[in-house]
Amino acid sequence: MTDDTDLNRAARALSRARAVLVLTGAGISAESGIPTFRGAGGLWEGFRAEELATPQAFAADPARVWRWYRWRQAQYGECEPNPGHAVIAQMEGAYERFLLATQNVDGLHHRAGNREMVEVHGTITRTRCSRCQRLSDWPEAIEEGEDPVPRCGSCEGLMRPHILWFGERYWTGTLERAYEFAHEADVCLVVGTSAQVWAPAQMALLAQQQGAFLIDVNPGATDISFSADVHLMGPAGELLPELWERAQRSPQEP
Ligand code: APR
Repeated sequence: MTDDTDLNRAARALSRARAVLVLTGAGISAESGIPTFRGAGGLWEGFRAEELATPQAFAADPARVWRWYRWRQAQYGECEPNPGHAVIAQMEGAYERFLLATQNVDGLHHRAGNREMVEVHGTITRTRCSRCQRLSDWPEAIEEGEDPVPRCGSCEGLMRPHILWFGERYWTGTLERAYEFAHEADVCLVVGTSAQVWAPAQMALLAQQQGAFLIDVNPGATDISFSADVHLMGPAGELLPELWERAQRSPQEP
């Protein structure tokens, strides 16, 4: 578990900050019961996410990919935002300038109340036509044995989840907004990412190079935690409420 001095240093940085960038990964939702991608429990029918979340997997077997996403979406629906999500939602209300960039597609930040947010890998609440790119809401649940692949209402093309897959380019505008904000952030708070995906990890390091105080909250060690000004080692659902409580008690003056 993390020590008191680190918590106090991080709390002080948050209490003085005017612009805060928060970056989250799967770890923020772990305590809501959603398995992380790279940890134990991240497998589905023996497949790893990297084998299913690709355009190639969809082209080869759209039904299998859809069964996986329908299973994930149902699983997310049974989960609730945890105290870590709640703190990040409170932060949005507390700072003049705030942005959350999440890699998660589970929609829990939105449910917790965040609106100043970029979902850099998309969201499981929407689908997109693989042919005409039309966006739609997530489809209704289906009965066992029904075709799991929804069709586009306009062109009959195969719908796919509105989620960025491995090997695909980021959508124009999403990352840019976060990168721009990284230049002005006084604090960059990273929570629950293994930093294996390049772009979000770079964003944190860029923010730090531009002067932000970098805090990493993760029970494990990652490339970000090695560079961070403070690595708070433990679960986000416990550490973030403690950190936020201390930040609100800390004196505001430098
Ligand atoms: N609190 C904070 N962090 C946690 C917790 C917790 N309770 N539990 C686990 N973690 C940490 C793990 O130590 C790990 O570093 O969360 C991280 C989860 O890492 P990944 O599973 O790799 O998730 P993420 O970094 O979000 O993956 C990035 O890869 O598969 C793709 O597109 C998918 O968005 C995902 C991306």
